Amino acid sequence: MPDISTQIAGIKLETCVFNASGPNDVTLGELETVAKSVSSAITMKSCTLKPRKGNPEPRYHDLPEGSINSMGLPNLGYKEYIRLASILKSKYNKPIVASISGLALEDNIIIFKAFNESKADLIEFNPGSPNTIGKPTMGYDFEYLDRSLNEVTKICKKPVGIKLPPYFDFVHFEEVAKIIKKHKVAYISSINSIGNALVIDPVKEQVAIKPKGGFCGLGGKYIKYTTLANVRKFHELLPNVPIVGCGGIYSGIDVFELVLAGATAVQLGTIFMQEGPSCFKRIQDELRGYMKSKGYKSLGDFRGKLKTLD
Ligand code: SIN
Repeated sequence: MPDISTQIAGIKLETCVFNASGPNDVTLGELETVAKSVSSAITMKSCTLKPRKGNPEPRYHDLPEGSINSMGLPNLGYKEYIRLASILKSKYNKPIVASISGLALEDNIIIFKAFNESKADLIEFNPGSPNTIGKPTMGYDFEYLDRSLNEVTKICKKPVGIKLPPYFDFVHFEEVAKIIKKHKVAYISSINSIGNALVIDPVKEQVAIKPKGGFCGLGGKYIKYTTLANVRKFHELLPNVPIVGCGGIYSGIDVFELVLAGATAVQLGTIFMQEGPSCFKRIQDELRGYMKSKGYKSLGDFRGKLKTLD
């Protein structure tokens, strides 16, 4: 069978498919479900300095081809994820990805310092959430992005990745790539949900979720093509930075397309919410099957080798 293992910043992953930060990864019980599945790593919920209840409910809604959410970073606070990382590591010995989404630079400095003494293998900085009431999507503030990356990569002794919001303009891709080049960024995860979508129920004549008047992050199949474009563009601009594709992956062929665009691994979000932990095995098996049908033995055989029409 084809080999779908990969590596990010020297951390070996048995397969290139694991869970995204966000769905079903807040509590120890949820994280153990990921640990017991064939997800090749355990990504934990983005954490803040203090525990947060998150936004008022309803704050998640399934759509025919995806999902919307405005969770507002409900989490147990960073100290608890440091504790959970050591429990998970001792019981399951899988790579652990901590996700950090402090609400201010000072918070991130404290949290990143503390994670130096944790069992997390990779630390994912998440300035891309569109759902924090009263805060902009920090990944769109390039000055903040630069300053934060400078601080957290200086402090952190572990590989630091960054989960980016989606970008839509080549000028913005270039700006962000320039910032990433300046700092020690071990990988990019691309993309967070597409911010500030609006879903309307025409019968009730109302929005689908409560926070922010219904404005929400969009995920699932609706965003796959934006994910592909972001992965491709960052791969072109930063060919030596591993990219973890995230957003709209429902099948092994979706993973194949992302690797072709340049991804080193992928993270599953909405499909994990909707299908549960069996999605990891199904999608890994589908990827192996598709690679076999094409005669590919490993991801390196086709990674980044997308053809254009010129
Ligand atoms: C949330 O908790 O609102 C989602 C987190 C994210 O978008 O990164």
